[in-house]
Amino acid sequence: MLNNKRPDSMERITTPALANAFIAEQIESIQKQVGDKKVLLALSGGVDSSVVAALLIKAIGKQLVCVHVNHGLMRKDESENVIKVFREGLDANLIYVDATDRFLDLLAGVSDPEKKRKIIGAEFINVFADEARKLEGISFLAQGTIYPDILESIKQAEGKKAVKSHHNVGGLPEDLQFEGLVEPVKLLFKDEVRVVGEALGLPHAMVYRQPFPGPGLGVRCLGAITRDRLHALREADAILREEFDKNGLAGKVWQYFIAVPDFKSVGVRDGKRYEGWPAIIRAVNTTDAMSATIEEIPYALLHHITNRITAEVEGINRVLLDLTPKPVGTIEWE
Ligand code: XMP
Repeated sequence: MLNNKRPDSMERITTPALANAFIAEQIESIQKQVGDKKVLLALSGGVDSSVVAALLIKAIGKQLVCVHVNHGLMRKDESENVIKVFREGLDANLIYVDATDRFLDLLAGVSDPEKKRKIIGAEFINVFADEARKLEGISFLAQGTIYPDILESIKQAEGKKAVKSHHNVGGLPEDLQFEGLVEPVKLLFKDEVRVVGEALGLPHAMVYRQPFPGPGLGVRCLGAITRDRLHALREADAILREEFDKNGLAGKVWQYFIAVPDFKSVGVRDGKRYEGWPAIIRAVNTTDAMSATIEEIPYALLHHITNRITAEVEGINRVLLDLTPKPVGTIEWE
């Protein structure tokens, strides 16, 4: 526990110079800890695991083995981007696992949000463990733990209950034990991880990526997930993100996404009855995700997004805007 306490004297990393000093310090400490042994990392493409990967690549190069599990619930082009940045850009030792079928088969017919979360969390560990068992000579496990995770686990240990269970990487099975953990950013807050990420040369879009839940689009394809509705959600979400990017909202709004419920309404297309799902736009601002306010989106942009989604996305025939702050609504619908 002693190593998990941020010393009061620790300076907040706010500048590239401070980030570079932190990087140099961590490289030395990682090299000392790991020596010539191998390290395994689950690389989701989120800010924390990406920064840890970039840091470890700098420190130990190909001794780091990254595993990127695509659970089939990623946003459009997200896995491709991880491959591009890490395999092509940083020459990382990266194993890509497309586990879409494993996840979607297990999730078929499951509509309860907490059950969905549990299935996704548990299967993630299964897939990662399967890959880890195929590898030989791995001594360490790296993790993108950050300081708020440590504070959160302290709260949980004290018995404080969260509204929703958050399942990212949980405990690995008994037979998969490592000599030690490498957690180079565990004393940093998110804003500091971002400054370090930029200093490491990671793309701005990756470092300043909006939060994306571990269960991914799984909790935005509401109710029991089907492949066709998941596809429609992914395409509609990509249009929303593209338009927010183009119109200067991406850096301004904390979290924005589409959710697609599992019911249809009647519509008309080309003079014919056309039943489709609604796409729900959610765009919120917050500092800590405990409460959130609604971001105003210009009306003309809403019209444009609505026109694009209904014209370009098969299966969607209406676009709705969620104006509910948190509380009373949570940020995600499930
Ligand atoms: P809620 O919906 O609880 O979300 O208001 C607060 C923040 O947490 C994210 N979220 C999750 N993140 N696993 C995660 O890693 C989860 O199961 C999960 N559920 C919600 C949500 O996107 C928001 O940023």
